[in-house]
Amino acid sequence: MKFVRFLMKNAALANVPKHIDHFSKFSPSPLSMKQFLDFGSTNACEKTSFAFLRQELPVRLSNIMKELNLLPDRLLTTPSVQAIRNLSENIDSPLSLPLSRFVESLETIRNRHNDVVPTMAQGVIEYKDAFGQDPVTSQNIQYFLDRFYMSRISIRMLINQHTLIFNGNTNPAHPNTIGCIDSLCDVTEVIRDAFESAKMLCEQYYLGAPELELREMNSNNVRDPIQISYVPSHLYHMLFELFKNAMRATIETNEFSNNLPPIRVMLALGGEDLSIKVMDRGGGVPLRKIETLFSYMYSTAPRPDFGDNQRAPLAGFGYGLPISRLYARYFQGDLQLYSMEGHGTDAVIHMKALSTDSVERLPVFNKTALKHYKVNLEADDWCVPSKEPLDLAIYRVAK
Ligand SMILES: Nc1ncnc2c1ncn2[C@@H]1O[C@H](COP(=O)(O)OP(=O)(O)O)[C@@H](O)[C@H]1O
Ligand SMILES: [Mg+2]
Repeated sequence: MKFVRFLMKNAALANVPKHIDHFSKFSPSPLSMKQFLDFGSTNACEKTSFAFLRQELPVRLSNIMKELNLLPDRLLTTPSVQAIRNLSENIDSPLSLPLSRFVESLETIRNRHNDVVPTMAQGVIEYKDAFGQDPVTSQNIQYFLDRFYMSRISIRMLINQHTLIFNGNTNPAHPNTIGCIDSLCDVTEVIRDAFESAKMLCEQYYLGAPELELREMNSNNVRDPIQISYVPSHLYHMLFELFKNAMRATIETNEFSNNLPPIRVMLALGGEDLSIKVMDRGGGVPLRKIETLFSYMYSTAPRPDFGDNQRAPLAGFGYGLPISRLYARYFQGDLQLYSMEGHGTDAVIHMKALSTDSVERLPVFNKTALKHYKVNLEADDWCVPSKEPLDLAIYRVAK
């Protein structure tokens, strides 16, 4: 019986549907912010968007599914990861519907995939609990999840743009928004919104929260508000995560102090970059740990329950920083942490100021990607310091 189950599992693994093989031979086509805006402008053509998505969605999905299949079998066969594979492999039938039902089928696909992030996280936890962590697998999972979630961000972006633009409702209240892009996104306003939400959450947990001190510098014109073409929900997501982290650190290191040091934010717009720096005095993190903060397997907060929907947790899944960095990188920006242990942390979001520079950053499945999954533990090309101090006596020259 066990043997039959083993055979069936392996058959399921080997059986990659033909359409995935076919579409994964194409490279995804990244769109620029400007192209996204043009798709939704007055001369928007639903047929063009329909034809593009019918090809592009399966291409993006198939590229990442090829990589999913390179993960260790023991992870692939967890029920959570199996569920994701089944979902993604069945995308081709709704996509074959005619134009008149396309918006509806996209909405179905999007809703079916709503829980992919917690489901995937659950799969990784199941794997970690059952088999522990080894450096090669952890590195593969990290590499894969960054690409998998980036692919997902991009697929949702395409779906949202099409459904919002062509669902027949215009949005007169926001003439600058095209789908989920705001061509005049008011960055200061998003900073304040995200801060207020984090503050409310923080007050629920700690009965207090630090204040915000915001400064801004528009180098193009000092008096103008800072506005760029961006997806406000992406920016909000990043800031909300950074503020929650900064608040938690501030409160936990200043527990016995009467006045909490404020969270200072500096917003600057230059010719090429728009940068937002979030500065806290929350005690900081040692340099050795900075990279691990972006790991999908790391959090210092107690793990919240997956089924606990009553209250949004302030921290605990360890996904805040890595997912926020993906949002920043999605349009060619970045998110970096500079910390001074003993003092505090500066988190900086860099974004492209010009819509022509904001181009999607997408993973592609090719030989280089394949190589990443085949890494072995080779010797480092830097010396490993020995634990015992070297006994220099052996070098003593006889007199
Ligand atoms: N501003 C900060 N100051 C100190 N530690 C931080 C800060 N931001 C993040 N961290 C550390 O990084 C970890 C990971 O953060 P994050 O990815 O947001 O996940 P979570 O908040 O769910 O743990 C946190 O648990 C915390 O230990
Ligand atoms: Mg967090």
